[in-house]
Amino acid sequence: MNQTIHVGLLGLGTVGTGVARVLLEKSRLLEQRIGARVILHRVCDRDLRRSRGFRLPAGLSTTDPYKLIQDPQIKIFVELIGGIEPARTFILEALRQGKHVVTANKALLAHAGHELFDVATQAGADLYFEASVGGGIPIIKVLREGLIANDFDTILGIVNGTSNYLLTRMREAGISFHEALAEAKRHGYAERDPSLDIDGHDASHKLAILALLGFGIQARPSDIHIEGLRTISQADIQYAEELGYCVKPLAIAKQVNHELELRVHPTLLAKTHLLANVNGVYNAIYIHGDMVGSMLFYGRGAGQNPTAAAVVSDIADVARHLSRGVSSLIPLHRRQSHRILRLRRMGDIETRYYLRFMVTDRPGVLARLAGVLGRHQISIASVHQKERRAARIVPVVMMSHEAKESHVHQALRVIDHLEFVKQRTVAIRTEAPRAK
Ligand code: NDP
Ligand code: HSE
Repeated sequence: MNQTIHVGLLGLGTVGTGVARVLLEKSRLLEQRIGARVILHRVCDRDLRRSRGFRLPAGLSTTDPYKLIQDPQIKIFVELIGGIEPARTFILEALRQGKHVVTANKALLAHAGHELFDVATQAGADLYFEASVGGGIPIIKVLREGLIANDFDTILGIVNGTSNYLLTRMREAGISFHEALAEAKRHGYAERDPSLDIDGHDASHKLAILALLGFGIQARPSDIHIEGLRTISQADIQYAEELGYCVKPLAIAKQVNHELELRVHPTLLAKTHLLANVNGVYNAIYIHGDMVGSMLFYGRGAGQNPTAAAVVSDIADVARHLSRGVSSLIPLHRRQSHRILRLRRMGDIETRYYLRFMVTDRPGVLARLAGVLGRHQISIASVHQKERRAARIVPVVMMSHEAKESHVHQALRVIDHLEFVKQRTVAIRTEAPRAK
């Protein structure tokens, strides 16, 4: 007879509802596959009256999280309320009670992961977080286990489904940023506070988790350079398209000369880049390891079902370990890469840049822009002047060769004060496909 493992589920929102449903509706299949019976023992949400589109068995629900945390029968505590507090307190309490914890809460992991992992180790409990990055893509397991023999030099991810969805819809359907965001909210992709998605914070939380797994670096949120989508206009998307690029919300961890770059920003990718055709809510994570070379992982990065599938895979792992009396999780604190000495200063990174200047259309302007760039050691690869508009203000788009970030900043500080420059210059970094 298979052992029975009791689960307590906190948070019956988008993801929690999906998890409850799978545990109830696929219980037989899961038992067959896991070799243990997983029982949804109790669910907690502060609002139990809201319709979730399916019926929870009577007597399962409570509004008091401590009915889960203090229940000795519950061995797996699933946190799906999101945010830092009170999620942090509930998880710490559950771990101290010896419960294994499953969470999708990347914000909490990025801000307090260190503390949670320490307490888990002291309590002899495991903390699982597959759904925290890449939605339905099992990237955590891949990095933690499947690729353990590798040293990595690059992890590039489109890891925020909402922002990828926004840019895709703006490009493909020509709809506005706000219309696209309303759609993403309706689909359940966006965070409760969507500025986490739009301004790059959610992607930076995920990047911190990827950096921990891939490089053994415990980055604080302030260690990651973050730029969101608000500066990207329809015009930039269109000009990029004309030049053979697309704009993607990229999270980048890259090892350069024993330093690690960690940055999140909209990025121009040539249409031939492996990540260029990752559209809509889809996420993809590109990894380069010394043993495996290049790998690409692709799937739905947000939404109820993909995320619930990832949470249930963690529950299945714990249930399997519990039913066999062993935990096989490879500890995170032993992952420190011996090749990375420090984080790279943002001013030191080097990439090619897309620069859009809004200038008065008159003779000599291009020469003066080129002069300032040249004096800052920025070499121009191509120049594209767009049609003249009303008020004689025209966009001039330049692609640079590889240039140092600090030089570009210094040059733009000068350029944006020139009398013929009428708007703040837009600068978007590019990411080249890896040389074969
Ligand atoms: P939701 O906001 O849809 O769900 C959270 C639920 O928890 C709501 O029902 C909320 O109630 C309830 N809740 C909040 N605080 C408490 C509390 N103190 N006690 C009891 N119930 C509480 O969030 P999601 O399901 O979208 O996200 C859950 C987690 O999963 C987050 O960490 C998120 O970042 C992560 N995630 C989400 C993905 C997605 O696609 N949605 C994908 C990957 C990860 P109320 O509504 O009344 O506040
Ligand atoms: N808001 C997040 C996103 C949910 O859009 O990617 C998945 O983590």
